[in-house]
Amino acid sequence: MSLLKPSELEAQMRWRYACKKFDSERFIPPEMWSALENSLILAPSSFGLQPWKFVVVRTRELKEQLMGASWGQTQVRDCSHLVVFAARHPMSEADVHRFLDRIVHVRGVTRESLAGFQKVMLAFLAKPPEGLSLTEWAARQAYIALGTFMTAAAALGVDTCPLEGIAPAKYDDILGLPALGYHTIVACAAGYRAAYDRYATVPKVRFATEDVVLHR
Ligand SMILES: Cc1cc2nc3c(=O)[nH]c(=O)nc-3n(C[C@H](O)[C@H](O)[C@H](O)COP(=O)(O)O)c2cc1C
Repeated sequence: MSLLKPSELEAQMRWRYACKKFDSERFIPPEMWSALENSLILAPSSFGLQPWKFVVVRTRELKEQLMGASWGQTQVRDCSHLVVFAARHPMSEADVHRFLDRIVHVRGVTRESLAGFQKVMLAFLAKPPEGLSLTEWAARQAYIALGTFMTAAAALGVDTCPLEGIAPAKYDDILGLPALGYHTIVACAAGYRAAYDRYATVPKVRFATEDVVLHR
């Protein structure tokens, strides 16, 4: 089932840009936010393990504090909702068991029927692929959620700005994440563009299709 026509999807992808100036007086309505929050929850992850937490920051006070840990980027303060994408750190066997328990609860299957799946995941945890740490692996999953969230927002006409220009350790301290077993990876401001943001109208700089897409 498709609700958007291909041309409509493309129009929204072209409409999206990394918003530099948000209208600090406009807020995402609750129903709209609920759908966007669910886009985070529904994002795919490797094995389905969801090694993440999404911290949604709404208060002006906290946003201002985080702006101080974001090279002064005003998007952090002026957006409607700031999402901080945090990854599980360190990952442990307990995370696998929590996930398996959830499958049992949601799908009504027996724990025994998941023995093979459990073995695969525990083996992955014990020995991740060469050159990939579990910390890096969990961070990659967080970026998948970031992309899912930004695309969902664009489809709904909500502006975003992904933010790597932040000091993750300071975010961790401000939000108290290490005590929960998570650490900051990236953030995303969401809301509505200010009328005067010139970046909204500058042409997108992208390499030519033939330079980026290979057909084989
Ligand atoms: C992971 C990631 C981190 C980014 N961090 C920042 C940032 O800290 N501040 C900012 O203004 N833009 C940031 N950007 C936005 C990019 O500069 C922008 O997406 C890129 O220049 C392409 O422009 P467009 O998104 O407007 O099409 C980031 C983008 C990504 C994907």
